[in-house]
Amino acid sequence: MSNWTDVAAEADLFEGAGIPVAPGGRDIALFAVDGEVFATDNLCTHGHARLCDGFVEGHEIECPHHQGRFDLRTGDATLAPCTEPIKIWPVKVEGGRVFLDLG
Ligand code: FES
Repeated sequence: MSNWTDVAAEADLFEGAGIPVAPGGRDIALFAVDGEVFATDNLCTHGHARLCDGFVEGHEIECPHHQGRFDLRTGDATLAPCTEPIKIWPVKVEGGRVFLDLG
């Protein structure tokens, strides 16, 4: 079952950076890359760092704490010390708003 939830205005996003959103008390990060929007859990799977504070390199997010990386498209951990994938959320953009399918 899908549960599309309006979480942000597209205009709030910055190309190549992340912003935190908190639908239903969840901690999720949104990223804009090449005009596309990606959403991941915000908390790094390696430790207590928030990926919205990290650095976007291509389609990867670099954690601000130990510089591990995840692929924003798949959630896969792509650079140590990250080994556990990060949860990604389905995104759609309609009418200038960003929606996540929170399931
Ligand atoms: Fe993210 Fe260690 S907390 S790489």
